[in-house]
Amino acid sequence: MDLSTVLSGVELSNPVMPASGPLVGDDEKILYIERLGVGAIVTKTISTVAAQVPRPCIGAGTNYAMNAELWSELPPEKWINEILPRLKKELKVPLFVSVGYTKEDMEELVPKLDEFADAFEVSTHYVGKNLNVIGEIVATIRKHTKKPIYMKLSPHIPDPVGFAKVAKENGANGIVAVNSLGPTMKIDPAKRQIVFGGKDKFVWVSGPYLKPLALARVYQVAREVDGIEVIGVGGIKTADDVVEFLLAGAKAIQLLSSALIMGKDIYKRIVEGLPAALNKYGFSSVREVIETDLSFNLKYEPDHPKIDLDKCTFCKVCEMVCPYWAIWVYPDEKKVVVDEDKCFGCGLCQTRCPVNAISGVMPMEGKWR
Ligand SMILES: Cc1cc2nc3c(=O)[nH]c(=O)nc-3n(C[C@H](O)[C@H](O)[C@H](O)COP(=O)(O)O)c2cc1C
Repeated sequence: MDLSTVLSGVELSNPVMPASGPLVGDDEKILYIERLGVGAIVTKTISTVAAQVPRPCIGAGTNYAMNAELWSELPPEKWINEILPRLKKELKVPLFVSVGYTKEDMEELVPKLDEFADAFEVSTHYVGKNLNVIGEIVATIRKHTKKPIYMKLSPHIPDPVGFAKVAKENGANGIVAVNSLGPTMKIDPAKRQIVFGGKDKFVWVSGPYLKPLALARVYQVAREVDGIEVIGVGGIKTADDVVEFLLAGAKAIQLLSSALIMGKDIYKRIVEGLPAALNKYGFSSVREVIETDLSFNLKYEPDHPKIDLDKCTFCKVCEMVCPYWAIWVYPDEKKVVVDEDKCFGCGLCQTRCPVNAISGVMPMEGKWR
C-alpha cells in the first residue's frame, strides 16, 4: 500500500514522524528512532544557548504526559559541529531541524543550520502571543533559507487561524499543530508539595488527553488558510488516530507522549499498522485519506438510542450515566426501557456502552474510542 506523502517537495515514505523532544535529542537517539521505520525525523528544539532543564522533568499517567523540559540541553555548537554533520552522512530519511525562539536566535542559528536541514520546524512556545512577533520570526528565517518552514502552534495561542495566516504571509509553508498545553501542574497531597516544574512551578501536558484539541487545531488551520500545509501532533497512539489526523487535514503526523507512556516501539507498531487501518476504513493510500472531505450533519431534533438486546449484558452503565434519567435496565426481565419523553438524544449512553449494544444516536460506526 502507498503510504507516501509530500511536504512542500520533501518526500516521506510514510506520514509518521517523532515529535520534537528527548527521543530525538542527539544523533544516537535519532538514528535509533529512524530504525523504527518513521517517514522523517524532527530534532529536539535547538536554540542559541543550551537549556538548563530542571530535574525531574518528565512524568506520565496512562493517558497523558507532563514535562518541564525546555529545549535542547545541548549547546548549538554540539549540534552544528557534531550531531548534524553525522546525521547528514548517515540519516536516510528527511530531517526537519527544530529551532527556537526569537528573531535574534533565528539570525544567528538558521544560516548555520541550513545546510543540514531538509526543512525547518520552528517552536514558538516561549515567544508570547503577539502575531506581529511571529511574523517577524518567520520573515527572519525566510531571509536565510529557501527550505520549507513549518511554524509550530502552541495551544495557548488564542487565534490559531490568524497565527497560520501571519506565518504564511511571511513565508512559512506550513504549521505543526500542536505543541504541549500549559501551564499545568502536579500536586502530591501526601507531601503537600508541587511535584515538579520549572521556575514557575508549572509543567506542560501532552499525550492522548490532547488529541481532541490537536485535531480541532489541525482542522481549523487546514480548512481556513488556503495553501498552508499542516503536520498534526497531539495525543496520537494508534494507526487509527493517524487516519483521523489525515482526515482532519494533516499531510503528516508526529507523536511523542505515547512513546513515553508505552514505549519507543510504538513508532514501529503505528507505521506497520497503518496499511491495515487504511484498509479497515476503505482507503487504498495515505494520499486518498488526505484528499477526503469530512461530512457533518448539524441538527437539533433528538434521535433516541436503539438497544441490541443480543449484545446487551444489562450491566446498567447506560442507566447510571444517563444525564436525563431516561434509560432503565431490568436485568431480571432482560429488558431495557428508553423513556423517549425524557431522552434528550445526547448520545452519552451510546459512547459509554462497553459492549457496543447501543446505536442510533451518535452518527458513528463501532465503539467510541
Ligand atoms: C518531554 C517532552 C519534551 C518536549 N520537548 C519539545 C521541544 O524541545 N520542542 C518542541 O517543539 N516540542 C517539544 N515537546 C512537545 C512535543 O513535540 C509535542 O508537540 C507534544 O508533546 C504533543 O504531542 P504528543 O501528545 O504526541 O506528545 C515536548 C514534549 C514532551 C512530552
